[in-house]
Amino acid sequence: MVRLKKKTRKSRRGGRGGPELLAPDQVGGMRAAGRLASEILDVVEEMVAPGVTTAAIDKAVDEVTRASGATSAPYLYVNHGTPPFPGYCCTSVNDVVCHGIPSDRELRDGDIVNVDVTPLLDGWHGDSSRTFLIGDVAPKAKQLVRDTWHALWLGIRAVRPGAHIGDIGHAIQTFAEAQGYSVVREFTGHGIGRIFHTAPSILHYGAPGTGSPIRPGMTFTIEPMINLGHWKTDILDDGWTAVTVDGMLSAQFEHTLYVTEDGVEVLTLGKNETPPS
Ligand code: MF3
Ligand code: CO
Ligand code: CO
Repeated sequence: MVRLKKKTRKSRRGGRGGPELLAPDQVGGMRAAGRLASEILDVVEEMVAPGVTTAAIDKAVDEVTRASGATSAPYLYVNHGTPPFPGYCCTSVNDVVCHGIPSDRELRDGDIVNVDVTPLLDGWHGDSSRTFLIGDVAPKAKQLVRDTWHALWLGIRAVRPGAHIGDIGHAIQTFAEAQGYSVVREFTGHGIGRIFHTAPSILHYGAPGTGSPIRPGMTFTIEPMINLGHWKTDILDDGWTAVTVDGMLSAQFEHTLYVTEDGVEVLTLGKNETPPS
């Protein structure tokens, strides 16, 4: 996800870094990259367990990504003066909101961990994340993870030509806050394609009917970060790791989407993922 900047209006018209609309016959590369992101997360899902380090997850992500003929876009990625990101994926445990750096920290029984992968395949990016439960997780934490996935899907369902970007955040925020959670504001979803992070910014909170109109051909992510406590985050001295200010849990799920003439295609859909009813 991208750090929210103060000048989203400027990027509206596109131009430099502006959104590229993909015709139906141009979306094959994004489909393949999205499918690969989902397959990498399936590999991660198989291996996460108590005692596994986040560095081991990172190594597996690197290996399966390379073996698939892709590279990991997060590796050495820089964004607005950050240091180069040192991992192949982000591993965000418990109160880490996003951009956690893989390390020798072992996953423990009761942890929740978000793994966020972005393969770059034949020039196209697929960006997706899931939050996994490690061993026996407290009911409240489990529910937060489940509800965060649900919030992502409510956001996805707000996507259709003629709706507005603000409708997405509104759907997510309304649901999350009704459950007593808060929605992180400092990081957003983003346009994606040949470029990892581009316009538009997809806020996970907001008012209906605001923001740019959603148009067929757009490709962007939705990636809500939902907290048990306050929505505010701090960045650690490593320049990347975002944590909740109160040390409470945060969960996240992310999909990459393609807007069609009459709805939306989820390019990173999991093979066992059935959208909520
Ligand atoms: N995958 C993240 C996103 O959803 C971005 C990670 S950038 C990194 O946008 F450098 F931290 F890896
Ligand atoms: Co993203
Ligand atoms: Co991501």
